[in-house]
Amino acid sequence: MKNKTVIVTGANSGVGLATTVELARRGATVVMACRSAERGEAALKLARERSGSNQLELVPCDLGSLESIRAFASTVRERHPVVDVLVNNAGVVSLKRETTRDGFESQLGVNHLGHFLLTLLLLEPLKRAPQGRVVTVSSGAHRVGNIHWADPHFTRGYSMWRGYAQSKLANVLFTKGLAYRMRGTPVTANCLHPGAVGTQLGVDRDTGGGKAIMKLLSYVFITPEQGADTSVYLATSDEVSGVSGEYFYRREPAPVSRLAEDREQIERLWFWSEKQVGEQFPFP
Ligand SMILES: NC(=O)c1ccc[n+]([C@@H]2O[C@H](COP(=O)([O-])OP(=O)(O)OC[C@H]3O[C@@H](n4cnc5c(N)ncnc54)[C@H](OP(=O)(O)O)[C@@H]3O)[C@@H](O)[C@H]2O)c1
Repeated sequence: MKNKTVIVTGANSGVGLATTVELARRGATVVMACRSAERGEAALKLARERSGSNQLELVPCDLGSLESIRAFASTVRERHPVVDVLVNNAGVVSLKRETTRDGFESQLGVNHLGHFLLTLLLLEPLKRAPQGRVVTVSSGAHRVGNIHWADPHFTRGYSMWRGYAQSKLANVLFTKGLAYRMRGTPVTANCLHPGAVGTQLGVDRDTGGGKAIMKLLSYVFITPEQGADTSVYLATSDEVSGVSGEYFYRREPAPVSRLAEDREQIERLWFWSEKQVGEQFPFP
C-alpha cells in the first residue's frame, strides 16, 4: 500500500482503529477521520506505535454534522488530490432517539447520511486514483431492516434496533447505488459485515453505560483485528479490483436481504439522501 492514501472514518476505536493500524503497517498514508480531538489524538499515538508508521494524520470529522463533513472533505482534497480508498467505518448505536446537528435521527444520520455526503465529496480524488475504492462497513443487521419511508427519522415510535437495522440496510443500498453510478470507471464500491466484534459499539462515551453488557458477551466476540480483516481485504487485495456492488463476509461475497437488492429501494434511497444532505452525484 506504499504511495496509497486511505481515509478511515471512526478511526479512533474498535474496527476502525484496527483497520487504520493494519493499513499503515502495510505502508499506506492513513487519514484518521475522528469526531473527538482527545480520543483522536490518543488513537493517533497508539496507531503510530502499533504500526511503526509515521504516515498517519488526524483530521477532525463529525459525521453528525454536514458542516464538519464539508470542512473535512475540503481539507482532504487540498492535502490529497488523489485518494485510493475511503473506508466508511464509523457507526453509532443509540439506545434513546438522538438527532444530529442537522436534525437527522442519529443512526441514519451518522451511519448512512454522513457517509453518503462524505463519499460524494470525495469522488473526484477517488476517480484520480488508478483504482479507487469505497469500502462501507454495514452489518448482518441489515437483514432485519426496512427503510421506514413514512418516517425515516423515527419522529414517532423510535426503537434502537429498527433504527440501527435501517441504517445498515441503507449502507448496502448506498453501495449498490454507488457501484451502479460508477460503472465504466475504475472506482469500485463494496460493503461488508465485520462479524460480532468486541468494541465500544453501543457504549455511552460520556457515562460508560453499556460496558457491562459488552463484557458479558465478550466470550462470543472476535477481536477488532479479526473484525477489520474484511475491510483491509477489500481495501488492498488485487482479487477484488474489478468487483463492485457486493456485500462481503469473511472475505467472500455473501447474500443480502431481498430489500437490499431491490432496484426501486436503491434508487429511492439515493434520491432521498441527495435531498437530505443537499448534494448531488457530481458526474453526468
Ligand atoms: N462491533 C460489532 O459487532 C459490529 C457488527 C456489525 C457491524 N459493525 C459496524 O462496525 C463499524 C465500527 O464499529 P465498532 O464496532 O468498531 O464500534 P466502536 O468501537 O464504537 O467504533 C465506532 C467508531 O465510530 C465513531 N463515530 C461514532 N459517531 C461518530 C460521528 N458522529 N462522527 C465520527 N465518528 C463517529 C466512534 O467515535 P467516538 O469514539 O468518538 O464515539 C468510533 O470511532 C460500525 O459501522 C458498526 O455499525 C460492528
